[in-house]
Amino acid sequence: MELKIFETYELLSEAAAKEILFVVKKKPTAVICLAGGDTPLRTYQILVRQAKEYHIDFSKVHFVGLDEWIGIPSSNSGSCQFFINKNIIAPLQIDANHLHLFNAMSNDLEAECRKMDGVISKLGGIDLMLVGIGMNGHVGFNEPGISFRLKSHVVELDQITTQVGQKYFKTEIELKKGITLGMQNLQEAKEVILLASGDKKSSIVKQMMEEEINEYLPASLIRAHANSKVFLDGASAHELQTNDC
Ligand code: F6R
Repeated sequence: MELKIFETYELLSEAAAKEILFVVKKKPTAVICLAGGDTPLRTYQILVRQAKEYHIDFSKVHFVGLDEWIGIPSSNSGSCQFFINKNIIAPLQIDANHLHLFNAMSNDLEAECRKMDGVISKLGGIDLMLVGIGMNGHVGFNEPGISFRLKSHVVELDQITTQVGQKYFKTEIELKKGITLGMQNLQEAKEVILLASGDKKSSIVKQMMEEEINEYLPASLIRAHANSKVFLDGASAHELQTNDC
């Protein structure tokens, strides 16, 4: 694992966008999994701008969704799908056939999970997975205590996730379950980048980096990945023992 600490969120976002562009330039058929949430938003804006500016061809790239709130339709602006569509898929004009997202409205969610794992393996695996870290240390919706061996699965959301998750929605909403790629999918991804930003993440970032790798702190598993990077801004890194920018 490589740790990089940037002075600002803007610099972190520029670096993350550059990594994604690098992967696509190297492998135009790359399979990329992108998280929703606030943290990667600026990365996606920079990515879209630079992809257009430098004429990077995304037409053969496949995008895989990381997770979704169960029971929330993609038309709801708080859904992960809405966010990915708005910030990546629409601006880059990605073909619908190259977009693989969980249908969280399906009445057979287990089939959705099997379908997703099947798509990933048919595409030859995920080349790059870009994730965030939740306030409770989750990755995707892999909540504390989840087995590291699981692939796509349905999960009962942690109380912290259901509370914090309200920030994505215009009005208060009942969030109970999620559907997500699992930590086994993360371990099998060829490259993983985790982003964290802001003072509010500093305590969980310290735990992720300094506590023993364990299933009650899902994000800690990133340290065991052979090709992973953790990008932090100064605010999220300030509790670390070593936090030189
Ligand atoms: C969202 C996701 C979540 C978020 C995490 C951090 O698709 O997978 O795990 O990455 O909750 O969210 P933000 O970036 O909003 O702090």
